[in-house]
Amino acid sequence: MATTHIYVCTTCKLADEAGVAAADRSGARLHRALTELAEQRRAAVHIHPVECLSVCKRACTISFAAPGKWTYVYGDLPADAGADVILDGAALYGATADGLIPWKQRPEALKRGVVSRVPPLTPALETAP
Ligand code: FES
Repeated sequence: MATTHIYVCTTCKLADEAGVAAADRSGARLHRALTELAEQRRAAVHIHPVECLSVCKRACTISFAAPGKWTYVYGDLPADAGADVILDGAALYGATADGLIPWKQRPEALKRGVVSRVPPLTPALETAP
């Protein structure tokens, strides 16, 4: 089974965090919370900090990706309470063959927060010049 990668935007900030230090902004806090909870749960995920997923007006933002699967981008996730739902969603994503989590099974925050989905690269595209 392909490993699930979770990309977390560490530069996401809410409108009222303009003067807040970068390490204390929502995206950075979510990344820390997610990393800690994934360790506690021994979750089968790789968590990657990234600077901006181009969904800045919908902080906090994350993405699920895995080889051969659809990539999903989600926004509007709470920094201090989002880790649980993200890991629950990542487990559902990891259990699929194609990355498509059935709508009824998706945690509510992921239903509301979905921004986009991108098809997996096909072998032909992976070898294109
Ligand atoms: S700063 Fe988080 S998506 Fe741009």
